[in-house]
Amino acid sequence: MSPKASSKAATAKRRMEQLADELDRHSRRYYIEDRPEIADAEYDELFRELQFLEEEHPEWARANSPTQRIGSPPAEGFKSLPHLSPMLSLDNAMDEAELRAFVDRVARLLDRSDEASNEPMIGEPKLDGAGVELIYRNGRFDAGLTRGDGTVGEDISANLRQILSVPMQLDDSAGKLPELVSVRGEVVLPIAAFKRLNAKRMKLELEPFANPRNAAAGGLRQLHDIDVERLRSLEFRAYALEEGRPKELETQLLILAQLESWGFLVSPECTLCKDFQSAVAFHQKQLAARDSLPIEIDGTVFKINNLALQVELGSLSRTPRWAIAFKFPPEQATTRLVDIEAQVGRTGALTPVAKLEPVQVGGVVVSNTSLHNQDEIDRKDLRIGDRVVVQRAGDVIPQIVRVILADRPTGKSVPERYRLPTNCPVCGNAALRLEGESVTRCPNIDCPAQLKNNVWHLASRGALDIDGLGQKIIDQLVDLEHVTRLSDLFALERQSLVELERMGGKSADNLMNSLAKARETTFARFLIALGIRHVGATIAEILADAFVDLGGLMEATASDIAGIEGLGPTIAESVASFFSDPHNRAEVERMVELGVRWKTPSQVQGERGAQPLVGKTFVLTGSLSAPRDHFKERIVLAGGKVTGSVSSKTDFVVAGENPGSKVTKAQKLGVEILDEAALTKLLGES
Ligand code: IVH
Repeated sequence: MSPKASSKAATAKRRMEQLADELDRHSRRYYIEDRPEIADAEYDELFRELQFLEEEHPEWARANSPTQRIGSPPAEGFKSLPHLSPMLSLDNAMDEAELRAFVDRVARLLDRSDEASNEPMIGEPKLDGAGVELIYRNGRFDAGLTRGDGTVGEDISANLRQILSVPMQLDDSAGKLPELVSVRGEVVLPIAAFKRLNAKRMKLELEPFANPRNAAAGGLRQLHDIDVERLRSLEFRAYALEEGRPKELETQLLILAQLESWGFLVSPECTLCKDFQSAVAFHQKQLAARDSLPIEIDGTVFKINNLALQVELGSLSRTPRWAIAFKFPPEQATTRLVDIEAQVGRTGALTPVAKLEPVQVGGVVVSNTSLHNQDEIDRKDLRIGDRVVVQRAGDVIPQIVRVILADRPTGKSVPERYRLPTNCPVCGNAALRLEGESVTRCPNIDCPAQLKNNVWHLASRGALDIDGLGQKIIDQLVDLEHVTRLSDLFALERQSLVELERMGGKSADNLMNSLAKARETTFARFLIALGIRHVGATIAEILADAFVDLGGLMEATASDIAGIEGLGPTIAESVASFFSDPHNRAEVERMVELGVRWKTPSQVQGERGAQPLVGKTFVLTGSLSAPRDHFKERIVLAGGKVTGSVSSKTDFVVAGENPGSKVTKAQKLGVEILDEAALTKLLGES
């Protein structure tokens, strides 16, 4: 080998090592931690570079190279279950030429060069979620597992049972069911649910999910039912029948129809494409529809329709030869990071926000985006003036993926590292970062920034719902010092309102009326309005239920609060420490003095009339004849309580069809099980 060639080879070898290490790290973050650091498209790019180098230099390829593996081994904490047959991955096509190459390869392998492009394929959306296998024995759901490493998956049966679109019993009305059925498909989180869950998480100051796929994959791998709402929001879409195929079904199209008639959800977009051209047209159509679909898709999948030909084509170690994923181009763009601004939130957290040169990404113009905290900035090594790659992760908040280092000036003009300010940019108080926390906070509770946010929160719909108290008015009230603490809101006089910009006499009257109306509230809403960390609507309801009046709650210790069903130590600590702060106590008492009030439960009960279910706790399970909320409302109006899990404190379980494990648990604990008719009777409605 010439010296030049040998140095080139050494570089290739080093690059292969580096790529394999990097891909290993990213796949751990993706599969195990559900916290990807780079965009899928970037992962694919690295993966393909390694694939290419390994083809050139097979002698240096690692035996356990990322290109040879599928997914990751099962995580600890779950039972491992073997797949009935390997659960493969899909080869990718990045553009039309690569799809063409796939179609040609199929024709060549089948020795049909004359009909080259004419082997019909099914075009399906490539669902961006977590692949799972569901196993049915004699028509009943038996077990379900993640893809894992393709050979062995994690037994996530208990979690899957919570998903409404995972049938517990297959529909056999169209004929006899095979003894063993294995169905594969994708668990996805619909975008609407993703947004709802993230909004809630942000309110609770939990880290939002990066995208629907991570939220789905993480939800499926919960060890305890910590986030049942997330589980129940998931959707299973079937795309393959691995075991139990009735002999007469000879095409993928018929398989999809069979899956549907057994009761599975199948993507309605699946279409037979008779040749290459119609496959391209299908892909274009899905790409155009992408932003209006209820779930995330990241491309299309083409499968040879004829199952006998699939068998003839066979599979490589990781991927079948009869299918290909045609990926969508990433929704990414590059722009310049013009500035980083530190904003102060309701809890005093200093959040760095990137100011970007406006750029179009996936149909929206992005000009600023949260950088979360100092660690995030350090990890990405973001510096003001950098060119950066921006992407919209799953139809949500845009994020900066990485810096384009090659474009950063070097030598003397290299930009400095960014540090969050050491003092609060609003009140000037020294900001603190506690040990072990990623957040830097302004500790001054009277900081105008916090106060504005607190007033805004207090006035919001879920809290006291004060009509006409918008951000502009709040800013003025605080800036002019008409409001220097939260309770001042209820001491406002008409005169100070009239003086504000954009406020005439009529609007001032309206706002005075809204404030008067807002004083009449409920205990739970009042608790939400106080802006206690971690106390959102659900927690506030639980607290209001448990402590009939404010006095009791103000005196409760963290351990008193932690003893209440549904509340954990973090919430208990937060509530107790809020009420032990003299400033907060004075605020709460002053609000009450200024006329904020609510009815006690017995007053409410007296007004509502008979409440036959007072003190009774219910759990709803199985599919009922109307949405759960309908039943919940009836029970709550009759004085009862509805909780999510069965325990010794449960009085009744209301079971619909295919009820699952809650009924088994209820039977074990001797809890009475009701059907809908029995519930109606209990409610005294019949
Ligand atoms: S078929 C052997 N069909 O994409 C073929 N997979 O990147 C197995 N996926 O592991 C898969 N939508 O989790 C198939 N319509 C679809 C799909 C789909 C999404 C996932 C699946 C697979 C991964 C490969």
